[in-house]
Amino acid sequence: MTTSAPIHMAGHLAPVPDEIDAVDLPVDGALPPELTGRYLRNGPNPLPGEPSPHWFLGHGMVHGIRLREGRAEWYRNRWVRTKTLQGASMIGPDGTVDRSVGVANTHVIAHAGRIMALVESSFPHVLTPELATVGPCDFDGRLTTAMTAHPKTDPVTGELHFFGYGFAPPFLTYHRLSAAGELVTSAEIAVPGPTMMHDFAITDRHAVFLDLPMTFSLQRLSQGMPYGWDEAYGARIGLMPLARPGEVTWFDVDPAYVFHVGNASTDAAGRVVLDAARYAPADAVAMWEGLGPSAAGPAAAAATSGLARMYRWVLDPASGTVTETPLSDRPVEFPTVDDERVGRDARYRYAVGTSAVVKFDVDGGAVTEHALGPDTVAGEAVFVPSTAPDRAEDDGWLLTITTRRDGSASQLLVLDATDVAGAPVAAVTLRRGVPAGFHGSWIPDQELS
Ligand SMILES: [Fe+2]
Repeated sequence: MTTSAPIHMAGHLAPVPDEIDAVDLPVDGALPPELTGRYLRNGPNPLPGEPSPHWFLGHGMVHGIRLREGRAEWYRNRWVRTKTLQGASMIGPDGTVDRSVGVANTHVIAHAGRIMALVESSFPHVLTPELATVGPCDFDGRLTTAMTAHPKTDPVTGELHFFGYGFAPPFLTYHRLSAAGELVTSAEIAVPGPTMMHDFAITDRHAVFLDLPMTFSLQRLSQGMPYGWDEAYGARIGLMPLARPGEVTWFDVDPAYVFHVGNASTDAAGRVVLDAARYAPADAVAMWEGLGPSAAGPAAAAATSGLARMYRWVLDPASGTVTETPLSDRPVEFPTVDDERVGRDARYRYAVGTSAVVKFDVDGGAVTEHALGPDTVAGEAVFVPSTAPDRAEDDGWLLTITTRRDGSASQLLVLDATDVAGAPVAAVTLRRGVPAGFHGSWIPDQELS
């Protein structure tokens, strides 16, 4: 018998039906005692009997693993208690938009001691360290737009830079939280229309915006996902000096789509070097159709296993020119970088390939991988630095939740980032299959104290 379940309701993406708690988890290998904190990961998880019309629209569920001094104390999963989970709609009968309503399904981060579940259409939702939901947060009423699920923490200042986009004006707004968690800056940014801006970048002096041809249309709304490929929109990358919020210089680039940035930095000549997982136009169309409301089968499976490739743009504010260069032909998604090098020169990117965790040396060109075998899927690989003084950039660990296509128990894998291809340092068995989801964070205990 064949199944007609949409891609996001089957296999490694199939939602779980309940919330559980498991304690004293079995560990193969040895967990580094420095890993004392929580690995939290978010993803869409529709309620039983209520399939979501699109993978991106399921209710947020956060999976958490508590590690302490070499032990895996617990695993638990919790739906984010949003108004959406209780049936509320973001758009009221009179067309007004309530940003306190949303699925909170894309990322989970900590800033200024506050854990926040994020989705790009709504306000963040604050969680407790035990994954109970406190509620939506608008930073004392100062946030009036949605908040991207991909904010960036400047590793030097501790400020959190982010943006919100919307399908109605203002289409794009830049925001900044102080290191203490206060919303201190908001500035509208002019773009031609309602683009779906999933991620952005910062450097030590710029914010970098991706104004790309995935746009909103009312005609698509009835199909469940109002955004779609629109090559006529064009493609631009914008540089905004952090010292002059709202002043953006745009650079026309070849049409493409980007969900996820690897990193950006300023080079010795003052140019901005940006790299990201890029979908060429045909791959963007195939990916979007493969993820669509009625997608199923091999095309959809290909879409979720990655059609993007690491790519580099070099933008020169002095000359107004941009160069574009592929970095690798290896299909990947979910690129990550050492958080302590966000916006700064960094040699390594980590990413997810088909059944593999992949490490890129963007200076030397080497690509290495940790292969999981065809029946296992890797989640986003989050780099956790070692505590060694003067550590090398890759001295630390990669954490990833792996998911078996047959739904059997997932693992939290801990890889040595200096030796990605080597045997895992540790593998924690989670006592349930965790659906392959979106993004997460390692939150050390000291970040919450
Ligand atoms: Fe994302």
